[in-house]
Amino acid sequence: MENFTYHNPTKLIFGKNQVNALTDLIPQYGKNVLLVYGGGSIKRNGLYDQVLDILKNLDVNVSELAGVEPNPRLSTVRKGIDICREENIDFMLAVGGGSVIDCTKAIAAGAKYDGDVWDIINKQVIAQDALPFGTVLTLAATGSEMNPDSVITNWETNEKYVWGSPGVTHPAFSILDPVNTMSVPRDQTIYGMVDMMSHVFEQYFHNVANTPLQDNLCYSVLQTVIETAPKLLDDLESYENRETILYSGTIALNGTLQMGYFGDWASHTIEHAVSAVYDIPHAGGLAILFPNWMRHVIDHDPVRMKRLMLSMFDIETEGRSDKDIALEGVEKLSAFWTSLGAPSRLADYNIGDDRLDEIAGIAAREMEYGGFGNFKKLGKEDILSILKASL
Ligand code: NZQ
Ligand code: ZN
Repeated sequence: MENFTYHNPTKLIFGKNQVNALTDLIPQYGKNVLLVYGGGSIKRNGLYDQVLDILKNLDVNVSELAGVEPNPRLSTVRKGIDICREENIDFMLAVGGGSVIDCTKAIAAGAKYDGDVWDIINKQVIAQDALPFGTVLTLAATGSEMNPDSVITNWETNEKYVWGSPGVTHPAFSILDPVNTMSVPRDQTIYGMVDMMSHVFEQYFHNVANTPLQDNLCYSVLQTVIETAPKLLDDLESYENRETILYSGTIALNGTLQMGYFGDWASHTIEHAVSAVYDIPHAGGLAILFPNWMRHVIDHDPVRMKRLMLSMFDIETEGRSDKDIALEGVEKLSAFWTSLGAPSRLADYNIGDDRLDEIAGIAAREMEYGGFGNFKKLGKEDILSILKASL
């Protein structure tokens, strides 16, 4: 392992009716609250009314930022910063999925920064301060509820970057009630499970020696998601399965799995470049790209990839090479995601080869600048070849 310091300041509040904890939490942060949410799912499932009732009974002034997009945009972040300044906001409450939470993080940091918030998102400046914020999570996927990271798209320049400042942009608290995820539609439920599995893969692929517990934790999260996914898709309102998946999503990316190393993250970087150009769902892109990344880098460490595959799937090993076994595992992973209903080709989103060079350029720049590709360094030509294999 490498030396590490782990500090996660987010208070995690999990289970049925935990939204009521807002009554005690909100008054701790001040009087002017900005409620941030997406395109209306919380109005349709009743959570908006529930939260607003709680806020009305407290002595606070509530402003609202509605309409945060999936793949949240810089323009919406700027709108939120303006509201924070005009209304003297003390605290923000994000009610939604990863996009709403990520947008809230950028507003929180931007509101405390004198320059242009884009400097922080494109990582020229590290956020030193942020408005405090909490979350009520409605979709199990990103882990944003318990990590400092945020992913924002600048639609004018086709750039989508991940940024974050540990300790500064962690949520103060996150409320996770499985009931609030029951209305997540089938496609988003699938994407969420693909995303959390991909987060485990990104962390598992590293070159640091002696991480047996971390490896086993990774296998456990993957086994749990693989076992639960079909049951949840059979009954989207099963509380137990929503509960298991919600907890899995948080553990997959709250820092627990990556103590003592930093993972690869190339597939995420490539996906962010694809969705910066085509605005596709994040994990739809991952389901397509990740197996092709695995095939591309397999020679780097076939044994490590084989172990991962054997932890997830039954594969005949007798008389076969590590690479052969690992490759069959990649086929099984791809087939598993397809069996859930995830896409497997860029063509599923009507993406052809016309802008692949541009996408590879965006990803290569980010990979270099952000230090991604830690398992296997990739250049633009590698990225292009992964993209072509994904067509
Ligand atoms: O906007 P509303 O109306 O709320 O609808 C959303 C949206 O259309 C809907 N939804 C959410 N909760 C629901 C619901 N519909 C019905 N019932 C509910 N309870 O689902 C749609 C997708 O929501 P979104 O927040 O975009 O999904 P997700 O949580 O997957 O977030 C995706 C974003 O997170 C970034 C991605 O790149 C993407 O921009 N990521 C953030 C990470 C992080 N902060 O650590 C890591 C990830 O790797 C990822 O890159
Ligand atoms: Zn992801």
